[in-house]
Amino acid sequence: MTTEQTTKPQAGDGVAAASGDVLSVTDSRTGKTYELPIEDGAIRAAHLRQIKVDEEDFGLMSYDPAFLNTAACRSAITWIDGDKGELWHRGIPIEQLCEQSSYLEVAYLLMFGDLPKKDELEAWIFDITTHTFVHENIKKFVEGFRYDAHPMGMLLATVGALSTFYPDAKRIDDGHERYMATIRTIAKMPTLAAFAYRHNLGLPYVYPDNDLGYPGNFLSMMFKMTELKYEPDPRLERALDVLWILHADHEQNCSTSAVRGVGSSRVDPYSAVAAGVAALYGPLHGGANEAVLKMLDRIGTAENIPDFLEGVKQGKERLMGFGHRVYKNYDPRARIIKKHVDEVFEVTGRNPKLDIAVELEKRALDDDYFVKRKLYPNVDFYSGLIYEALSLPPAMFTVMFAIPRTSGWMAQWQEMVDDPEQKIARPRQIYTAGGPREYVPMERR
Ligand code: CMC
Repeated sequence: MTTEQTTKPQAGDGVAAASGDVLSVTDSRTGKTYELPIEDGAIRAAHLRQIKVDEEDFGLMSYDPAFLNTAACRSAITWIDGDKGELWHRGIPIEQLCEQSSYLEVAYLLMFGDLPKKDELEAWIFDITTHTFVHENIKKFVEGFRYDAHPMGMLLATVGALSTFYPDAKRIDDGHERYMATIRTIAKMPTLAAFAYRHNLGLPYVYPDNDLGYPGNFLSMMFKMTELKYEPDPRLERALDVLWILHADHEQNCSTSAVRGVGSSRVDPYSAVAAGVAALYGPLHGGANEAVLKMLDRIGTAENIPDFLEGVKQGKERLMGFGHRVYKNYDPRARIIKKHVDEVFEVTGRNPKLDIAVELEKRALDDDYFVKRKLYPNVDFYSGLIYEALSLPPAMFTVMFAIPRTSGWMAQWQEMVDDPEQKIARPRQIYTAGGPREYVPMERR
């Protein structure tokens, strides 16, 4: 290639001058070679636009349905090594957080980047604990749902409705408003979740009890009956806290991308989080934990497992709670949950579905179909068994995922808003329909 044929990215037109590692690309249509800077293991898709057949040409795009290989942001919040099965928040391995931290401390870590000092943690917990109440009109709003409304649908609507109660949250560049929205979403999510649950049962809603910790208060709002004071079992509180640590964030998954994408329009964070709840509802995402329990119910006994797996291999259905876009190894969250299953069963009694789940996992991991595709249990495979042991109906399982993921969504939203490289999310398309064609009046069609 002659120098004339090599086009270098020019500074000033969104294309940085090449320095260090570059990717040399030769366009077979023109014979021209381009040098695209490689930064952090990536090229910028915008740099492809200089690759044109002629001046009229729009320039080359990258095509990546479902974002299989596109980084849409820089993030310092969560790291996943899918091959090794590792997960870190702000650099700290998930195993250490589950062992030594609490959900609210992890929420602080996600939001602010470092573990809090003692007084910082106390102030954070105080602020969250004192914002758990919701406006009475939210309660009336929940009352308006049908008795059998899915709790995720109710949660989605009530989180979105919060934006109407806090119109100042629109000032997303105001640090105080941001902080208040963060506190409020994390604090109120368990209240909204518990109201949805009690609504399904036709039971009176239980107001938050600020003497209890975050998981204990949730258990009280869910299960308190006529007793004056609900006393949560500390073992269940701890198990719930660990489950919530495990679900707090998971980098650029479907719901987090929804929060970032919707938030990039600079809408208020309650509306952006409502988009996250909607995305999480789907059975391929947070809805999988509900689907796992239904699947275990259908399988019924261990003898039916081979037939069931045969159906999965023939593509009739998916083994829910298995497989992951990023993990091509055991999901570390599933490993930790599996360890806690027995602790919970000590309090609640053993769930016989555990035996089916364990056998199902064993057979799948021994089967070529799953081995070849690197399909391992994910976070949703065992979590439903714990939720069921806590007497929660399957419809509540995804809600149990949404409560802790709120801190991840808020941390990711804040990072997106503060990132000077971000703009409104607006993907390109490859247009497939041809045209222009004449409009045909109705009588001539
Ligand atoms: N059961 C059977 N086959 C599967 C499964 C499964 N659970 N997951 C993937 N495969 C097969 C799939 O059919 C495909 O096979 P082939 O190459 O022959 O076409 C191959 O494995 C690759 O699958 P994919 O659909 O291209 O993978 P993906 O990265 O697009 O999907 C996933 C990831 C999580 C959506 C998928 O594994 C799945 O549907 N799992 C079941 C639902 C589930 O458990 N979701 C929870 C995910 S973890 C928590 C969360 O993020 O919410």
